[in-house]
Amino acid sequence: MIRFGAATAAYQIEGAVREGGRGPSIWDDFCLTPGHVVDGDTGDVACDHYHRWRGDLDLMAALGLETYRFSIAWPRVQPEGRGPLNRRGVAFYRRLVEGLLERGIEPVATLDHWDLPSARQAAGGWAARDTAERFAEYARLMGEQLGDVVCDWITHNEPWVVAFLGHAEGIKAPGIRDWVTALRAAHHLLVSHGMAVEALRAVGAPGTRVGITLNLAPVRPASGSEEDRAAALRLDGHLNRWFLDPVLRGGRYPEDMVALFERRYGPLDAVLDGDRDLMSAPIDFLGVNYYMPKRVRAAPGHAPLGLEQVSGGSPLTAMGWEVDADGLHEVLMRVRRDYGDVAIYITENGAAYDDGEVHNGTVEDPERTAYLRDHLAALSRAIADGVDVRRYYAWSLLDNFEWEHGYGKRFGIVRVDYETQRRIPKRSGLWYRDYIARARNGGGA
Ligand code: FCB
Repeated sequence: MIRFGAATAAYQIEGAVREGGRGPSIWDDFCLTPGHVVDGDTGDVACDHYHRWRGDLDLMAALGLETYRFSIAWPRVQPEGRGPLNRRGVAFYRRLVEGLLERGIEPVATLDHWDLPSARQAAGGWAARDTAERFAEYARLMGEQLGDVVCDWITHNEPWVVAFLGHAEGIKAPGIRDWVTALRAAHHLLVSHGMAVEALRAVGAPGTRVGITLNLAPVRPASGSEEDRAAALRLDGHLNRWFLDPVLRGGRYPEDMVALFERRYGPLDAVLDGDRDLMSAPIDFLGVNYYMPKRVRAAPGHAPLGLEQVSGGSPLTAMGWEVDADGLHEVLMRVRRDYGDVAIYITENGAAYDDGEVHNGTVEDPERTAYLRDHLAALSRAIADGVDVRRYYAWSLLDNFEWEHGYGKRFGIVRVDYETQRRIPKRSGLWYRDYIARARNGGGA
């Protein structure tokens, strides 16, 4: 049976970046450079969840959430990304998880939602193989510390974003612009995923389930021309297959994309013997983040992929993202068709809108409500069509720090008033509460 919940990430909500023995992360550093984040916003305070976690748990209970996906900040529990644990950091997550369990909410922990300890970046970051070894050690330590209370673990969140937006385009931390580095980072993220799967299994806590979260999207050609269709296949190879194939198809990168990258950048020399086995370590579930489809046309001058994205015609969110619920159904059917019957957690799905003011104790957000309703309907169709979906998480529980966009983009089903830190459930959150209740009472989702 599917369980419904909401997701967050440590750097986006916790704040308290210099408290409780936490070390700096690459996102703390990235935010310091003027021009990186809109309005110079930072995660220094965010939703102050580090201090307000108890109230946030009560909020989740009031919304009837059955499951909660959060991330552990590696620099909070192991400030240098190696060496001794920071007991106060570990204690924070233990209290959080115990508080969830007391309220009957299942905890699902992501180990890497982008906040790599700065000390690891100084040692080469994801471009260095040693970071993969250190990540596996961190995974083992978390399994030892929390494996008695956490069953579900997600190794990485959206390694495509970390590798390519962080290391090729430089629009996210660590802000590097170099494709060779990005390809190395992508490989080490995938290898470290496999190492972490093995490490968590080796801890042997009963009931442990491990997965990885990928951002997947159907890729649509802007026209029926052969060039545009070939461009769509390349973006699909880059965004979807570059990660799905290694994890779910025997550890092999897709050949068309290997050829494309090697022609330009030379051999993928980060790949070592044995990496295929690591990358394809059996997983218990695949996490899928779905927001929108992609549309592309051929653009020969744009190296290395020779394409550019174009915007679609349907309604757009405040991020400029196309709203297309059928795309979720399409992605799920595609994974099943091409990769077999893997259990799926929809680990993120949601939308940012320019919400109005609080009125009569709530925020009317009809577009977000419709977005959730339509995507949940698409999900039900996929389930009826045989896809094994076990969890669904709305992104996000709270308005929060939306990375390079700062606090201006609001994804929450609960509004956060950043001046007072008051939380106000939006109409979408109340609608979702009722949806979950109906699903539980057998009314069908
Ligand atoms: C995803 C991220 C998540 C959030 C949403 C809007 O790419 O995983 O942290 O920023 O986008």
